[in-house]
Amino acid sequence: MSDCERDSHSRLDATTIFHPRELRKHRRPMGFAWMILGFGIFTSLAQGATAKPPDAQNYVDPTSGSQYVGTDTCKSCHEDKFKNIDASPHYKTNLSKIRGEEVHGCESCHGPGSAHVEGGGDKTKIFSFKAAKPEQVTKRCMVCHESNPQQREFMRSTHNQNGITCTSCHSVHHSKQENLLVQQQTPLCFSCHAEQKGDFQKPFHHRVDEGLIQCNDCHNPHGTLQVRQLRSTPDQDVVCFKCHSDKRGPFVFEHEPVKVEGCTSCHFPHGSANSRMLTSARTNSLCLQCHAATSAIGHTQNTRLQQCIDCHSSIHGSNLSAVFFK
Ligand code: HEC
Ligand code: HEC
Ligand code: HEC
Ligand code: HEC
Ligand code: HEC
Ligand code: HEC
Ligand code: HEC
Ligand code: HEC
Ligand code: HEC
Ligand code: HEC
Repeated sequence: MSDCERDSHSRLDATTIFHPRELRKHRRPMGFAWMILGFGIFTSLAQGATAKPPDAQNYVDPTSGSQYVGTDTCKSCHEDKFKNIDASPHYKTNLSKIRGEEVHGCESCHGPGSAHVEGGGDKTKIFSFKAAKPEQVTKRCMVCHESNPQQREFMRSTHNQNGITCTSCHSVHHSKQENLLVQQQTPLCFSCHAEQKGDFQKPFHHRVDEGLIQCNDCHNPHGTLQVRQLRSTPDQDVVCFKCHSDKRGPFVFEHEPVKVEGCTSCHFPHGSANSRMLTSARTNSLCLQCHAATSAIGHTQNTRLQQCIDCHSSIHGSNLSAVFFK
């Protein structure tokens, strides 16, 4: 792969991520992260082993007493690992030492390796992502990625709160997918979200399984400031307007629930047995959930036989009719 190809799928460039000023921003949180980690270990020791079962104890970072030895040393025994990093977007971590060894090459993720090397490759003396707890993995990756607006909210995400970490979805060394995913996005999400998989198989659904749109069009798996890890449009509007901008208005005559409760007051977002993914099998009963008292003029027809939307057809709002006739 040429550098040019690599860059075509990278959103940040090396100069921004490695700019010395950026660096300073990262060092502090990293020091702070270690303080928290240290404090966590201290308090868990102070509370004693009786407080928690063994598997709830933190994996203690085995590299704290070690020195940095540099990527070339690691490469001498782990040529294959060097190669797969160098063929991935993380090749950039090998480029410049300007930010210091703690964010350079293999040791930026695995920690300083002198004890591991002196021990002839002692597995217990190097940071292992497999042995580490989810929050420890997250902290390591966030040293560099928390400045990325896409990942910034991860700490407050439902995923983080449920023990999901970066390596649940990404593999730094072994991925053959875009974005270093462990498998393609849709099957990846379905591997944990069986219920939603069912939604997308209902007769009326957004065509995610068919590849027309993706989970991440509406959600950011790294978390957002909205509920349900939902994305919003650039001006903070509901995510649905990104593709259904005709429903956005503003209209001279707004239909209140479209603006107030939002699209999901009448539609399921994933899929439904009802046409148009409506929350109710019959459109009229949907309307009557809120308009039970409707008996005004114009309703002399038998509403049980005629669809409300036959007359009130511009149901998302209208510039011409206060009762959404057109
Ligand atoms: C002298 C050779 C040697 C050098 C130099 C070396 N390693 Fe290793 N490393 C090994 C051996 C041997 C193993 C154990 C492999 C196994 O059992 O599968 C290992 C295992 C590892 C593991 C896996 C730990 C685990 O939990 O399974 C990591 C991560 C690792 N090395 C990273 C590094 C890094 C980073 C460097 C550079 C700082 C480095 N190694 C330098 C020989 C070396
Ligand atoms: C961006 C962070 C990152 C960098 C940089 C990195 N690693 Fe890893 N390494 C990981 C993670 C995460 C795993 C767990 C497996 C995975 O996700 O692919 C891992 C696993 C390993 C393992 C265990 C065996 C395996 O394949 O699972 C070895 C050995 C290893 N890394 C060595 C290295 C060496 C040598 C370098 C430098 C050439 C390096 N790593 C650079 C994050 C990193
Ligand atoms: C639940 C699965 C999941 C978890 C957990 C996850 N990611 Fe992602 N990540 C994705 C998916 C899917 C994409 C590609 C689509 C996208 O950009 O949202 C992606 C894209 C990325 C990208 C590249 C694209 C971009 O928009 O920035 C980076 C960098 C990234 N993830 C880093 C991380 C880090 C760091 C963590 C841990 C803090 C993490 N991810 C946790 C699923 C996940
Ligand atoms: C030393 C800094 C550093 C650390 C630590 C780090 N990354 Fe990265 N990561 C980068 C850089 C630099 C890029 C390339 C960004 C670019 O060019 O857009 C990158 C890119 C990525 C991408 C995007 C891949 C793509 O296809 O665009 C993912 C996903 C990712 N990293 C996940 C992780 C995970 C998971 C971890 C923790 C195991 C991690 N990173 C740790 C620096 C780091
Ligand atoms: C068209 C936009 C859209 C797409 C595409 C989408 N979602 Fe959603 N999803 C939503 C909305 C909106 C909600 C909030 C529903 C509510 O709170 O009433 C939601 C809620 C959820 C929830 C919370 C539980 C639930 O079902 O309400 C999960 C989990 C979820 N989505 C997973 C996924 C997965 C996995 C995919 C891809 C296979 C996906 N979503 C694709 C819009 C979407
Ligand atoms: C390793 C398992 C795993 C994977 C993979 C995974 N999730 Fe989740 N996800 C969870 C867990 C656990 C929860 C929290 C419990 C729940 O709501 O089911 C969750 C919750 C969610 C929620 C609800 C958020 C909320 O605030 O209620 C959304 C939306 C979601 N995931 C989307 C996705 C998307 C999109 C993907 C694919 C990029 C994905 N998930 C991949 C495990 C996973
Ligand atoms: C990424 C683009 C995208 C986003 C975001 C999106 N949609 Fe859609 N939506 C589509 C496409 C494309 C169709 C066309 C139906 C098809 O062929 O799958 C569609 C169709 C629909 C339909 C008609 C389904 C039918 O049976 O005719 C409804 C209702 C709908 N979307 C509601 C929503 C709601 C509510 C949201 C927000 C939660 C939303 N959409 C977000 C792309 C999107
Ligand atoms: C008050 C209930 C209600 C609300 C709220 C609502 N819709 Fe609808 N929507 C309907 C009904 C009823 C239909 C069926 C119209 C038809 O079959 O002619 C429909 C049809 C649709 C369709 C398919 C036909 C078309 O007009 O394109 C899309 C797409 C759609 N809605 C998107 C949205 C979006 C996006 C939102 C949020 C901005 C939203 N809806 C809010 C009731 C509602
Ligand atoms: C979630 C509740 C809800 C649903 C479902 C709903 N509406 Fe409404 N609708 C309202 C509210 C609230 C107003 C504003 C009422 C007001 O100002 O008195 C309104 C206003 C209207 C108006 C304008 C006349 C007026 O009183 O301002 C019409 C016509 C109307 N709705 C028709 C429908 C039809 C047809 C459906 C079914 C497709 C429907 N509504 C579904 C809540 C709803
Ligand atoms: C045959 C056409 C027609 C059908 C079908 C119809 N409406 Fe109407 N609707 C009207 C007319 C005409 C008005 C009065 C318009 C005016 O005052 O300018 C009206 C007014 C309304 C109003 C506002 C005044 C009020 O009574 O609060 C609501 C709300 C409403 N309709 C809801 C519904 C609902 C819900 C249904 C389905 C159960 C329905 N309509 C079916 C023609 C129809």
